[in-house]
Amino acid sequence: MTNHDTKLIHAFGALAELGQEVANKNSFQETIRTSLHLISGAIGIMRGGIARYSRFAHELNMLAVRALGDDFPLTMNLTAEDERQFLAAGMTPIEVSQAQVLPFFQVYNSSFEGRRLELFIPLVVRDEIVGSIFLGEKASGEPYTSYDKDIVCAMGQHIGVAIAQRNLMAEIERRADENRQLFEEMRSTYHDTVRAFAAAIDCKDKYTEGHSVRVGKFSEIIAGELGWGTEEVEGAAVAGYLHDVGKLTVERKIINAPYRINAKESSELNKHPSVGFEILQPIHHPYTDVPLAAKYHHERLDGRGYPDGLYDREIPFIAKIVNLADSFDAMTTDRPYKARRAAHAVVEDLHRNTGKQFSPELTTAFLTGMHRELKGEDRSKRFRRLLGRDYMEAEGLTEKIRYTLNEMAPTTPMTYVAAAASVGGDETVLHLPIH
Ligand SMILES: [Fe+2]
Ligand SMILES: [Fe+2]
Repeated sequence: MTNHDTKLIHAFGALAELGQEVANKNSFQETIRTSLHLISGAIGIMRGGIARYSRFAHELNMLAVRALGDDFPLTMNLTAEDERQFLAAGMTPIEVSQAQVLPFFQVYNSSFEGRRLELFIPLVVRDEIVGSIFLGEKASGEPYTSYDKDIVCAMGQHIGVAIAQRNLMAEIERRADENRQLFEEMRSTYHDTVRAFAAAIDCKDKYTEGHSVRVGKFSEIIAGELGWGTEEVEGAAVAGYLHDVGKLTVERKIINAPYRINAKESSELNKHPSVGFEILQPIHHPYTDVPLAAKYHHERLDGRGYPDGLYDREIPFIAKIVNLADSFDAMTTDRPYKARRAAHAVVEDLHRNTGKQFSPELTTAFLTGMHRELKGEDRSKRFRRLLGRDYMEAEGLTEKIRYTLNEMAPTTPMTYVAAAASVGGDETVLHLPIH
């Protein structure tokens, strides 16, 4: 094997290693340092450095240096003329001694000469300067051959791509950050607007102060208990906050009537779901079902609700959630013609109306949430904050809810299937009624 061959193998080995280095996920700094090490080894040089170019600041910043001494400049400026020349020449090694016409080499000549830096390679990737390599004299004292320069250029390609990739990543990260921030801002603006709306709706109805806000929070609790994801839970809250937005167009005296309203007034009031839908429909909500929740929050499973008298499966799920939250708030707050019901009575009401007005899975989810809080398994105190501590500490409430949950349990489809499967196997499951 000739000396030339050995060198070739050595250089290609270094190149392969460098390629791997660039491709793997090591830290960028580490990659650059290793690259310099590999070039030095392949050519046989003692001193050198690799810099990254900032095209905004027009400066080269050293990323890795080898035996250049403490006083070597870590930042070097390029003039427009330097940039033009480097770009025109592309990735070609420049002999420092022959390049004195360029401002860059005039300015930094003494630094280069002092370290016997002989070769300067601008790293050009896709018509952009991304960095440069500085190389000192060869250990053998011989001049750089064109073969050496080819190796340096090949390695320079890899390093240039690594730097360009890094720049791109930084840019993408910056933009992703910007987008995230923008998104967060929009999201919080949306939620502020929703809450402002809820407050405006509640403002009109002096007897049910805070109703929309509470319905939002109860809806949020139900969705959370159903195991929904963060976004869906947020959507349920928004649907609750805005469910009565249609009331904004109903006369104040009807809403605030201190007596049971007559048929005419009642039909006026009953328009609020449809009006709410009309108001919400044209708005682009991050959650699709918000207008539907407003439109159908007074529907009942048994078809006796309004405006359309829909039956169970015709009613959008989100509207069922808001309906439960809405009814629960009506039961647990004082109304002009009706005092707040005691906690025990409310639980009984929920139970009695499950299957007629409320979906069993929703009543179960809601009562489960309440039960977990009473048992101390959920420490968020959501119910206590919304209903008052005394209310939630009614004697025997925990047992009452547990009893009710047990009573309701066999009617849920999941339990049916599980119970049937454990008793009669698959055959029994096939004969189950479809819910
Ligand atoms: Fe309503
Ligand atoms: Fe309501």
